[in-house]
Amino acid sequence: MTAWTSADIPPLTGRIAIITGATSGIGAQAALALAAHGAEVLLAVRDTARGEAQAAAIRAQHPGARISVGALDLASLASVRDFAGRTGDTIPRIDILLNNAGLGLQKTRHTTEDGFEQMFGTNHLGHFALTGRLIPALLRAPAPRVVTIASIAHRRGSIDFDDLQTERPYTGRKAYGQSKLANLMFALELDRRARAAGSRLASIAAHPGVATTGFVAATGTPRIMVTLANLAISIFGHSSAKGALPGLYAATMPGVIGGQYWGPNGFLEVRGTPAPARIAPQGQDHAVWARLWTVSEELTGVTYPALA
Ligand SMILES: NC(=O)c1ccc[n+]([C@@H]2O[C@H](COP(=O)([O-])OP(=O)(O)OC[C@H]3O[C@@H](n4cnc5c(N)ncnc54)[C@H](OP(=O)(O)O)[C@@H]3O)[C@@H](O)[C@H]2O)c1
Repeated sequence: MTAWTSADIPPLTGRIAIITGATSGIGAQAALALAAHGAEVLLAVRDTARGEAQAAAIRAQHPGARISVGALDLASLASVRDFAGRTGDTIPRIDILLNNAGLGLQKTRHTTEDGFEQMFGTNHLGHFALTGRLIPALLRAPAPRVVTIASIAHRRGSIDFDDLQTERPYTGRKAYGQSKLANLMFALELDRRARAAGSRLASIAAHPGVATTGFVAATGTPRIMVTLANLAISIFGHSSAKGALPGLYAATMPGVIGGQYWGPNGFLEVRGTPAPARIAPQGQDHAVWARLWTVSEELTGVTYPALA
């Protein structure tokens, strides 16, 4: 089987994409690849100075690339509301929403501005609220795709409705696994609802395998350990550019359909070329998808509009 690369992305001129967390790692690589193929790309980032630097780096490689930067902190529902308010009304349409930003495993418990456990609040609830607020702009596109980045770590996760904020007791592993399982379930439930509504919106999940990004450093691990971990990842995993490929495939390739989950096809899905990925049994429980959706609406105060 020939490896699929970013060179195989179809022409995207006239398409508009939003990527969360485009300052680093997979999001930065995805932004570069989408812009290189002609898409107009909005980098939704919490640090706009770094976002502008990233935009300049892309323009340097691809003069004429249409890139803009918007302030979005997924750990703040007010920031999500403001971003969506500024963008949702003015953008002509959103063809691709890449829900990529993510906070890696935090050893000690932190909370978001709204009091949610930080990984659940940022990785899942922030994207849940963002997508819900951007539905009208997505539905202005002829074939909108929402791609949400999950993780192999969803297999270690469970949705603990009695302790969604991971207070009793806190372990970073439990909170991260839950947040990435929630990403996957959100993507699948959004698509189930879109199909039920007869919507043209497709929601797809993807995961990068294991890739060298800023992810380990963002956990607060000592520098020497970050270097060693990234060395190991570069041997057993793959680069951030390759880690971006499953999400790019899901976002751009004809034939991809809503409700699919894409990841690398190699051993344990750690590296390789994009292919349908395995969903752990606990990720296939439709009753949990639906309950998580209802709870997420309650926690964020964002009720989804009609999907068609
Ligand atoms: N790397 C892997 O092996 C791996 C494996 C499985 C899944 N993933 C998933 O891949 C996605 C991308 O991660 P990455 O590996 O590319 O890591 P990364 O290099 O650390 O990038 C993460 C991005 O998320 C942004 N972010 C973090 N908190 C945010 C917030 N509150 N609001 C807005 N943006 C925020 C970061 O912004 P700043 O630059 O401002 O910090 C950064 O741009 C994540 O969803 C992660 O769970 C990665």
